[in-house]
Amino acid sequence: MMRKQVVGNWKMNGSAAVMGEVLDQLSVERFSADVSVCVPAPYLSAAVDRLAASPIRVGAQNVSEYGDGAYTGEVSARMLKDVGCSLAIVGHSERRRYFAETDAAVITKLARLLEVGLFGVFCVGETLAERDSGGAEARIESQLAQLHTLMARGAGAERFCVAYEPVWAIGTGRAASNEQISSMHEFIKRCLGPAYAVLYGGSVKASNAADIMALTAVDGVLVGGASLDAREFGAICRAA
Ligand code: G3H
Repeated sequence: MMRKQVVGNWKMNGSAAVMGEVLDQLSVERFSADVSVCVPAPYLSAAVDRLAASPIRVGAQNVSEYGDGAYTGEVSARMLKDVGCSLAIVGHSERRRYFAETDAAVITKLARLLEVGLFGVFCVGETLAERDSGGAEARIESQLAQLHTLMARGAGAERFCVAYEPVWAIGTGRAASNEQISSMHEFIKRCLGPAYAVLYGGSVKASNAADIMALTAVDGVLVGGASLDAREFGAICRAA
Protein backbone atom coordinates (compact mmCIF):
# COMPACT_ATOMS: atom_id res chain seq x y z
CA MET A 1 0.00 0.00 0.00
CA MET A 2 1.18 3.51 -0.85
CA ARG A 3 2.51 5.49 2.12
CA LYS A 4 0.25 8.41 2.99
CA GLN A 5 1.61 11.87 2.24
CA VAL A 6 1.26 14.75 4.67
CA VAL A 7 2.23 18.14 3.24
CA GLY A 8 2.25 21.26 5.41
CA ASN A 9 1.74 24.63 3.75
CA TRP A 10 2.64 27.55 5.98
CA LYS A 11 1.40 30.06 3.39
CA MET A 12 2.76 33.57 4.19
CA ASN A 13 3.00 32.85 7.91
CA GLY A 14 5.71 32.02 10.39
CA SER A 15 9.10 33.44 11.24
CA ALA A 16 12.61 32.19 11.86
CA ALA A 17 11.64 31.63 15.50
CA VAL A 18 8.47 29.68 14.67
CA MET A 19 10.39 27.60 12.17
CA GLY A 20 12.96 26.71 14.79
CA GLU A 21 10.27 25.56 17.22
CA VAL A 22 8.13 23.62 14.77
CA LEU A 23 10.81 21.96 12.69
CA ASP A 24 13.05 21.06 15.61
CA GLN A 25 10.13 19.25 17.30
CA LEU A 26 9.08 17.43 14.13
CA SER A 27 12.60 16.47 13.14
CA VAL A 28 13.12 14.13 16.10
CA GLU A 29 10.07 12.02 15.22
CA ARG A 30 9.84 9.27 12.63
CA PHE A 31 6.42 9.09 11.00
CA SER A 32 4.96 6.28 8.96
CA ALA A 33 3.73 8.90 6.47
CA ASP A 34 5.91 10.79 3.99
CA VAL A 35 5.95 14.28 5.51
CA SER A 36 6.87 17.55 3.78
CA VAL A 37 6.74 21.18 4.87
CA CYS A 38 6.33 24.04 2.42
CA VAL A 39 7.69 27.16 4.09
CA PRO A 40 7.91 30.72 2.74
CA ALA A 41 10.77 31.17 0.26
CA PRO A 42 13.10 33.15 2.57
CA TYR A 43 13.15 30.23 5.01
CA LEU A 44 13.77 27.41 2.55
CA SER A 45 17.52 27.08 3.03
CA ALA A 46 17.28 27.25 6.81
CA ALA A 47 14.51 24.64 6.79
CA VAL A 48 16.64 22.32 4.66
CA ASP A 49 19.49 22.72 7.17
CA ARG A 50 17.25 22.13 10.18
CA LEU A 51 15.81 18.97 8.64
CA ALA A 52 19.12 17.61 7.36
CA ALA A 53 18.97 14.59 9.69
CA SER A 54 15.24 14.02 9.20
CA PRO A 55 13.32 12.32 6.40
CA ILE A 56 10.93 15.30 6.35
CA ARG A 57 11.25 17.04 3.00
CA VAL A 58 11.19 20.76 2.36
CA GLY A 59 9.06 22.30 -0.34
CA ALA A 60 8.22 25.67 -1.86
CA GLN A 61 4.74 27.13 -2.20
CA ASN A 62 5.21 28.39 -5.72
CA VAL A 63 7.69 28.43 -8.60
CA SER A 64 8.22 30.68 -11.58
CA GLU A 65 6.77 29.62 -14.89
CA TYR A 66 9.99 30.91 -16.46
CA GLY A 67 13.51 29.58 -16.53
CA ASP A 68 16.40 31.66 -15.16
CA GLY A 69 16.60 35.14 -16.63
CA ALA A 70 15.44 38.74 -16.33
CA TYR A 71 12.30 38.10 -14.28
CA THR A 72 12.67 40.31 -11.21
CA GLY A 73 11.22 38.81 -8.08
CA GLU A 74 10.76 35.31 -9.47
CA VAL A 75 12.28 32.07 -8.16
CA SER A 76 13.09 29.37 -10.68
CA ALA A 77 12.69 25.62 -10.27
CA ARG A 78 16.44 25.25 -10.66
CA MET A 79 16.99 27.57 -7.70
CA LEU A 80 14.57 25.60 -5.54
CA LYS A 81 16.45 22.44 -6.37
CA ASP A 82 19.78 24.21 -5.77
CA VAL A 83 18.87 25.09 -2.17
CA GLY A 84 17.72 21.56 -1.38
CA CYS A 85 13.96 21.62 -1.97
CA SER A 86 12.33 18.36 -2.94
CA LEU A 87 8.93 19.59 -4.06
CA ALA A 88 6.72 22.60 -4.68
CA ILE A 89 3.02 23.37 -4.63
CA VAL A 90 1.58 24.78 -7.84
CA GLY A 91 -1.85 26.19 -8.58
CA HIS A 92 -2.99 26.77 -5.03
CA SER A 93 -6.37 28.50 -5.14
CA GLU A 94 -4.92 31.51 -3.33
CA ARG A 95 -2.46 31.97 -6.18
CA ARG A 96 -5.18 31.47 -8.77
CA ARG A 97 -7.40 33.98 -6.99
CA TYR A 98 -5.03 36.72 -5.75
CA PHE A 99 -2.33 36.45 -8.41
CA ALA A 100 -4.50 35.58 -11.40
CA GLU A 101 -2.72 32.33 -12.16
CA THR A 102 -4.40 30.61 -15.08
CA ASP A 103 -4.68 26.88 -15.75
CA ALA A 104 -2.08 27.35 -18.52
CA ALA A 105 0.40 29.09 -16.18
CA VAL A 106 -0.05 26.41 -13.53
CA ILE A 107 0.70 23.56 -15.93
CA THR A 108 3.81 25.41 -17.13
CA LYS A 109 4.95 25.71 -13.52
CA LEU A 110 4.48 21.99 -13.02
CA ALA A 111 6.47 21.30 -16.18
CA ARG A 112 9.30 23.49 -14.82
CA LEU A 113 9.41 21.43 -11.64
CA LEU A 114 9.46 18.14 -13.51
CA GLU A 115 12.27 19.38 -15.78
CA VAL A 116 14.60 19.70 -12.80
CA GLY A 117 13.36 16.61 -10.98
CA LEU A 118 11.27 18.26 -8.27
CA PHE A 119 7.99 16.68 -7.17
CA GLY A 120 4.86 18.72 -7.86
CA VAL A 121 1.76 19.12 -5.72
CA PHE A 122 -0.81 20.22 -8.29
CA CYS A 123 -3.82 21.89 -6.62
CA VAL A 124 -7.36 21.86 -7.92
CA GLY A 125 -10.62 22.90 -6.32
CA GLU A 126 -14.04 24.32 -6.98
CA THR A 127 -15.71 27.37 -5.47
CA LEU A 128 -18.91 27.11 -3.45
CA ALA A 129 -20.86 28.64 -6.34
CA GLU A 130 -19.51 25.98 -8.68
CA ARG A 131 -20.43 23.22 -6.24
CA ASP A 132 -23.89 24.65 -5.55
CA SER A 133 -24.62 24.89 -9.25
CA GLY A 134 -23.62 21.26 -9.82
CA GLY A 135 -20.45 22.24 -11.68
CA ALA A 136 -17.81 20.94 -9.28
CA GLU A 137 -16.68 17.94 -11.32
CA ALA A 138 -16.60 19.96 -14.55
CA ARG A 139 -14.39 22.58 -12.90
CA ILE A 140 -11.99 19.96 -11.56
CA GLU A 141 -11.90 18.16 -14.89
CA SER A 142 -10.99 21.39 -16.67
CA GLN A 143 -8.17 22.05 -14.17
CA LEU A 144 -6.85 18.53 -14.69
CA ALA A 145 -7.16 18.60 -18.47
CA GLN A 146 -3.68 19.85 -19.34
CA LEU A 147 -2.01 17.29 -17.10
CA HIS A 148 -2.59 14.75 -19.85
CA THR A 149 -0.02 16.53 -22.02
CA LEU A 150 2.62 16.08 -19.33
CA MET A 151 1.51 12.52 -18.65
CA ALA A 152 1.84 11.71 -22.35
CA ARG A 153 5.42 13.00 -22.12
CA GLY A 154 6.17 10.53 -19.32
CA ALA A 155 5.17 12.35 -16.13
CA GLY A 156 4.26 9.36 -13.99
CA ALA A 157 2.78 9.13 -10.52
CA GLU A 158 6.22 9.40 -8.93
CA ARG A 159 6.61 12.93 -10.38
CA PHE A 160 3.51 14.71 -9.09
CA CYS A 161 0.34 14.33 -7.08
CA VAL A 162 -2.96 16.20 -7.10
CA ALA A 163 -4.28 18.09 -4.07
CA TYR A 164 -8.05 18.45 -4.07
CA GLU A 165 -8.84 21.58 -2.11
CA PRO A 166 -12.42 22.83 -2.31
CA VAL A 167 -12.03 26.61 -2.08
CA TRP A 168 -14.90 26.85 0.39
CA ALA A 169 -13.14 24.50 2.84
CA ILE A 170 -9.82 26.36 2.97
CA GLY A 171 -9.19 28.20 6.21
CA THR A 172 -12.89 28.13 7.08
CA GLY A 173 -12.90 25.40 9.71
CA ARG A 174 -15.47 23.64 7.53
CA ALA A 175 -13.82 20.61 5.93
CA ALA A 176 -15.65 18.83 3.13
CA SER A 177 -17.66 15.81 4.29
CA ASN A 178 -16.12 12.37 3.94
CA GLU A 179 -18.66 11.61 1.21
CA GLN A 180 -17.75 14.76 -0.74
CA ILE A 181 -14.04 13.98 -0.40
CA SER A 182 -14.37 10.34 -1.46
CA SER A 183 -16.58 11.16 -4.38
CA MET A 184 -14.25 13.84 -5.79
CA HIS A 185 -11.09 11.82 -5.17
CA GLU A 186 -12.61 8.87 -7.00
CA PHE A 187 -13.55 11.21 -9.85
CA ILE A 188 -9.96 12.56 -10.05
CA LYS A 189 -8.55 9.03 -10.08
CA ARG A 190 -10.95 8.14 -12.88
CA CYS A 191 -9.68 11.17 -14.84
CA LEU A 192 -5.97 10.47 -14.30
CA GLY A 193 -5.74 6.79 -13.49
CA PRO A 194 -5.53 5.10 -10.10
CA ALA A 195 -1.75 5.38 -9.69
CA TYR A 196 -1.73 9.14 -9.11
CA ALA A 197 -1.90 10.15 -5.44
CA VAL A 198 -4.70 12.52 -4.52
CA LEU A 199 -4.39 14.54 -1.32
CA TYR A 200 -7.22 16.38 0.40
CA GLY A 201 -6.81 19.93 1.70
CA GLY A 202 -9.22 22.24 3.51
CA SER A 203 -9.52 22.63 7.28
CA VAL A 204 -7.61 19.43 8.09
CA LYS A 205 -6.75 19.29 11.78
CA ALA A 206 -5.71 16.71 14.34
CA SER A 207 -9.35 15.96 15.15
CA ASN A 208 -10.42 15.01 11.60
CA ALA A 209 -7.14 13.86 9.98
CA ALA A 210 -7.43 10.17 10.86
CA ASP A 211 -11.00 9.87 9.52
CA ILE A 212 -10.08 11.67 6.29
CA MET A 213 -6.92 9.66 5.72
CA ALA A 214 -8.79 6.41 6.38
CA LEU A 215 -10.86 7.02 3.23
CA THR A 216 -9.75 4.60 0.51
CA ALA A 217 -9.35 7.24 -2.19
CA VAL A 218 -7.39 9.63 0.04
CA ASP A 219 -3.63 9.29 -0.29
CA GLY A 220 -2.78 12.05 2.15
CA VAL A 221 -3.51 15.61 3.18
CA LEU A 222 -2.37 19.16 2.43
CA VAL A 223 -2.50 21.10 5.69
CA GLY A 224 -2.54 24.89 5.98
CA GLY A 225 -3.13 26.57 9.33
CA ALA A 226 -2.58 23.47 11.46
CA SER A 227 0.90 22.94 10.02
CA LEU A 228 2.26 25.94 11.94
CA ASP A 229 1.62 24.25 15.27
CA ALA A 230 4.09 21.47 16.05
CA ARG A 231 1.70 19.55 18.32
CA GLU A 232 -1.23 19.77 15.94
CA PHE A 233 0.82 18.98 12.84
CA GLY A 234 2.67 16.18 14.64
CA ALA A 235 -0.70 14.63 15.55
CA ILE A 236 -1.84 14.85 11.91
CA CYS A 237 1.37 13.16 10.75
CA ARG A 238 0.85 10.40 13.33
CA ALA A 239 -2.77 9.94 12.19
CA ALA A 240 -1.67 8.76 8.75
O1 G3H B 1 -2.66 24.48 1.44
C1 G3H B 1 -3.45 24.27 2.35
C2 G3H B 1 -4.85 24.52 2.20
O2 G3H B 1 -5.12 25.73 1.58
C3 G3H B 1 -5.67 24.28 3.42
O3 G3H B 1 -5.55 25.32 4.35
O4 G3H B 1 -5.75 23.81 6.31
O5 G3H B 1 -5.75 26.30 6.58
O6 G3H B 1 -7.71 25.13 5.55
P1 G3H B 1 -6.24 25.14 5.79
